Amino acid sequence: MLAVVADGDAGRADLLRAELERHGHRVVLAADAREVLQAAVEPDTLAVLGSHLPGADDAVALCRSLHAGGGAHEPVVVVVGGRDEVDTEAALAAGAADVWTIEPGGATGALDVRLELARHYARLQTENLRVGGEFALMRKALDLSGTGFVLTDPRLDDDPIVYVNHAFLEMTGYDEREVIGRNCRFLQGPSTDPADVGRIRAALREGRPFQIEVVNHRRDGTPFFNELHVAPMRDDQGRVVRHVGVQLDVTAYRVTDSLLAAEQQARAAAEAAERRSSFLAAASPTLGSHLDLAATLESLARLAVPFLADVCLVETFGGGEMRRVAASASRPGLERELLALPPTSPLDPDGPLPLARVLRTGRAEIVDARDGPIGDPAVHELLAAAGADGPPPRWMLVPLRARGRAIGVVALAGLAPERAFGVEELALARDVASRAALALDNARLYEQQLEIAGVLQASFLPAVLPEIAGLELAARYRPADGPADIGGDFYDLLELGEGTVALTVGDVTGKGAAAAALTGLCRHTVRTAWGYERRAAEVLRTLNHALVTQQPGHSRYATVLAATLTPGPGGVAVEVVCAGHPAARVLRADGRVEVLGERGTILGWQERLDLRPAQGLLAPGEALVVFTDGVSSGDAGGPLTTDALEQELTTSAGRDAEALADRLEAAALQAQEGHPVDDVVIVVARAAA
Ligand SMILES: Cc1cc2nc3c(=O)[nH]c(=O)nc-3n(C[C@H](O)[C@H](O)[C@H](O)COP(=O)(O)O)c2cc1C
Repeated sequence: MLAVVADGDAGRADLLRAELERHGHRVVLAADAREVLQAAVEPDTLAVLGSHLPGADDAVALCRSLHAGGGAHEPVVVVVGGRDEVDTEAALAAGAADVWTIEPGGATGALDVRLELARHYARLQTENLRVGGEFALMRKALDLSGTGFVLTDPRLDDDPIVYVNHAFLEMTGYDEREVIGRNCRFLQGPSTDPADVGRIRAALREGRPFQIEVVNHRRDGTPFFNELHVAPMRDDQGRVVRHVGVQLDVTAYRVTDSLLAAEQQARAAAEAAERRSSFLAAASPTLGSHLDLAATLESLARLAVPFLADVCLVETFGGGEMRRVAASASRPGLERELLALPPTSPLDPDGPLPLARVLRTGRAEIVDARDGPIGDPAVHELLAAAGADGPPPRWMLVPLRARGRAIGVVALAGLAPERAFGVEELALARDVASRAALALDNARLYEQQLEIAGVLQASFLPAVLPEIAGLELAARYRPADGPADIGGDFYDLLELGEGTVALTVGDVTGKGAAAAALTGLCRHTVRTAWGYERRAAEVLRTLNHALVTQQPGHSRYATVLAATLTPGPGGVAVEVVCAGHPAARVLRADGRVEVLGERGTILGWQERLDLRPAQGLLAPGEALVVFTDGVSSGDAGGPLTTDALEQELTTSAGRDAEALADRLEAAALQAQEGHPVDDVVIVVARAAA
């Protein structure tokens, strides 16, 4: 690694150079701020900045300049100064990865460990910025999609709301301060059916995800139809640590006398809920593997041993217990025994044990193991046995602080008689703790991002398919394998009244928060447009207008197929309009497959559209099949070629809508060995036989 050293104190600069060279670094001495800036453009550079630098106010100001670009090659910066010479907080806020206290003319101490820690910190800082940025985008996406979103904490009394998004407040007319800390039942009122509340209560008691349509009241008392999705989030012990709630105001889509219909739908929704929402709950186990939290914490614990202590434990606190998330010991046998202990132990946060005290006060402590366990008695016994021949072990306990509060403790034990715990050791222990806290905070941010991604994706799909006499409907949605990215495909089926059903299937370019925001916009715009339009082409024009006007850069597009299906005495009349989307297929009773629809213009590109509606008629037993390019792009491409797609349909003739959808989904997945690279959406509408 190239190390650029700049220090107005020439003696200290020489000392630093000698020490860094001893650790194998190529060292350049910079005479002033300009030379530092020039040298630090090389990738993988360490900048060590001391006091009295020509050309800069001080080392902190120079550190800020080095980080101003936000580029990929930012150096790892360490600020050096004598005691009371450097404002540590200001230096860290300016992007410094560490502050080394070295008095002019003093010794450098063990730079190698501190260097390793500084590198860790710089990496974690970058990760924190990245994940934090994506998280902010995701919250914005949630607001743009018009979907209400709350998180409640079932571990607190009465399961109160701990997070609410802007769209929820807009929908209900409440202020954030009026809802945080309250149970969601404040939305219920005179029009709410007590039977619905009973269903919610039962589902929550059983700890299963559910969907229900319930009548709620806004702050001004007006009732609205709330399509509510709730799912429990569990930690890796299986305990429910959050409830995720998504609220969609579906009043606009309800006919006025639909209280009865809503109740019927709620019953059907309860059955569909299991399948639809279970992926929410499945999102949490992937936490951590992405950021490799365990490996980061373990390597931090290893850095501390044996340099700083004989044993290092990283313990987090939550739900009345401590959890050991990393452990290392200088003696391999002891480490094995520590790792074999149950990782959790109860802790009364108001009790007298040292771990509880450090969590409460947020202050580091050095305690003597003679006074009893610091927390888990099993750890105490192991250490007492390990240190039986020497003096009683001593502990250095340092709080793990994230976002202003203590979330855990780094516990360092000394067993060897010559082991000293002094000011220098405590400073290093704080370093380990601040890095561990950052790693944990990153993981927490990532977990929240996953939660939101799952909930948002669920809101792109209808809660329940309409039930229409003479028509069988089936739909499949299977997200692409890979990172927990959202966005992409959506579908919707809506009853327009007088037996007509509107069908929409779409695919937005890209993935991630921005694509998700657009997918939400598409789904909600299409739903609203179907509220007053009966012609599929007009619905697509409305959506195109929204996409073109609300996306000034025209950076993303959508392909959408919109169709209407009207059962009548002669069969089901179908009209299909494609906007850049693969055409639909009609499966005739004798197994013939016909193409219905012409590709038309993609949406979001320009106001002028070339759309060509195509009409057809489904005789009893015949089906309309619509899909996205995760199944087949309709021409030669996609997982299934046109021939393979049509062959699959032909051999499925005579089957009902569910079986048809199942077979096509299985074929699309099989063509990709079970790991779809793109979202798979299939909607089948079949004239009842
Ligand atoms: C995450 C979450 C979100 C909820 N959102 C709503 C809601 O939007 N509307 C509603 O009527 N009830 C909602 N509830 C249900 C109520 O909070 C409460 O659980 C329900 O009224 C049954 O409990 P109770 O009998 O104690 O009132 C939600 C519950 C949870 C856990």
